Amino acid sequence: MARASLPAHDVADLSLADEGEARVRWAAGQMPVLAQIRERFADRRPLQGIRIAACLHVTAETANLVRTLNAGGASVALCSANPLSTQDDVAAALVLSDRVEVRARRGEDIDTYGEHVRALLAGAGEATGPQITLDDGADLLMTAHVRGGGILDELIGGTEETTTGLVRLRRLQDAGGLRCPVIAVNEARTERALNDRHGTGQSALDGIVRASNVLLAGNTIVVVGYGWAGQGIAERARGAGGAVIVCEVDPLRALEARMAGYEVMTSLQAAERGDIFITVTGSRRVLGARHFERMKDGALLANAGHFDVELDLAELAELAVGPGRSVRPLVEEYELADGRRLNLLAHGRVVNLAAAEGHPAQVMDVSFALQALAVEQLVLRGAELPPGVHPVSPAVDREVGRLKLLALGVRIDEPTVEQEHYRESWGPLA
Ligand SMILES: NC(=O)c1ccc[n+]([C@@H]2O[C@H](COP(=O)([O-])OP(=O)(O)OC[C@H]3O[C@@H](n4cnc5c(N)ncnc54)[C@H](O)[C@@H]3O)[C@@H](O)[C@H]2O)c1
Repeated sequence: MARASLPAHDVADLSLADEGEARVRWAAGQMPVLAQIRERFADRRPLQGIRIAACLHVTAETANLVRTLNAGGASVALCSANPLSTQDDVAAALVLSDRVEVRARRGEDIDTYGEHVRALLAGAGEATGPQITLDDGADLLMTAHVRGGGILDELIGGTEETTTGLVRLRRLQDAGGLRCPVIAVNEARTERALNDRHGTGQSALDGIVRASNVLLAGNTIVVVGYGWAGQGIAERARGAGGAVIVCEVDPLRALEARMAGYEVMTSLQAAERGDIFITVTGSRRVLGARHFERMKDGALLANAGHFDVELDLAELAELAVGPGRSVRPLVEEYELADGRRLNLLAHGRVVNLAAAEGHPAQVMDVSFALQALAVEQLVLRGAELPPGVHPVSPAVDREVGRLKLLALGVRIDEPTVEQEHYRESWGPLA
C-alpha cells in the first residue's frame, strides 16, 4: 500500500507490521467468542458509519477488537492507555493492514501520551470526532469532559474497561459532570471472573517473573489489596509455591483473605517479611518510605494497579543514596544508606502489561466480546440511556458466558420449569 494512502498515525516503526500481523493472528486463534461476534457484525453491519475512539492497551488482543468493530462498519482510531503497554509491531500492523489511525509508541513520554489522547478527539464538534469512546482508565472520556463543547454533543456514550476508570467516572457523575452514558464493562460478571481474577492473577506474576527471573516458590509474596485482581494474584502466587501475605484496609476483604488461608497483617508488619511486594489497590502511595526502610535486602517491588502511584517512587528515590541503577531491562536497583538494595520492576507501572503481554488472549476474548456488544448496545439504545455509569445488560453478560463455555466445549444443565418456579416462589419450604 502506498504510504500516502495511510491514515494519520504516530507509531514506532511500520516495518514491524509483519511481526505484528503474526502476533494478531496468534491471538485471534484464542479468541473464538470475539470471532463469532465478528462474523455476525460482518454479516449485519450494526455499527455502520459509527466513529469510535479507543484508548486501550495497544496489543494483539485489542487489534482483534478493532477488527471486529471495523467488521461491524465502524471506523476506529486508537491510542494507548499506558505508555509502556504498546506492542509496536501490532501498532504497525493496524496502520498498514487495517488503515487504522493509531497513535501509540512503547515508552512514549507523558506529554506524547497526552498529545495522542487529545489527537483522538480532534474533529469533535465538526461531525468528524468520535461518537463512542472505549477507555481503559477513563483518560479519553475525562479529556473530552475537560474540553467540553461540541465533543460531548456528538458522543453517544462510552465504555470503561477497568476499576480505576470507573472510580474516576463515578466521581465525575457524583459531581454532576458526567454528560453521557458509560457502560461499565469491568463490572460484568464474566469480566470479573475471567479478566480481573484469572487474567491479572496469571499475568502479573508472569510480568514479575519475566522482568526478574525470580523463583516464586519458597518466597514470601505480599499482595497489597485483596480486591478482584488481588485475589487472583494471591491465588496464583500460592499455587506457584509462594507463601502469601495479604494487606487490606477493608475489614471484610481482610476477613475473606484470612478465611481463604492467607496470612493477613498490616503493611508495616509485612514490609519486614516480604521478598516480593505487589500493590493492586487502585489507591496511591500504599507502600512508601516507612515500608522501604524495613524491607529486606533484595526485595522486589511491583505494581499491578492501574496507575504508577501505588508505590511512592519519590520517597524511594529520596531514601536511596544514588539514582536507581538499571540491573536488568525492567529492573532498577535502589541502594539505601545501610547498603540494602530494593529492586523496582517496570518503573512501578502496571507490571503485567509493562513487563509481560497483559492478559492472555483467552481472557481478553471475554472482555472484548463484552466491549463489542456494549458498543452495539450503545448504537442501538444509547440515546435512551441517561448520562451516568450503567451496567452491562445481564442478557449480554449471560450470552458471553454461554459462548465462552461453548468454545471451551463445556455443557451445563438448565434448570427445570419446576426448579425455576421453586426459585422464584416464596411459599412453604417443602
Ligand atoms: N493489572 C491489570 O491487568 C488489572 C486488572 C484489573 C484491575 N486492575 C487495577 O487494579 C486495581 C484494583 O482493581 P480491583 O478490581 O481489584 O479493585 P477492587 O476495588 O476490587 O479492590 C481493591 C482493594 O484494595 C484495597 N485497598 C485500597 N487501599 C488500600 C491500602 N492502602 N492498603 C491495602 N489495601 C487497600 C481495597 O480495600 C480493595 O479491597 C485498580 O487500579 C484496577 O484498575 C489492574
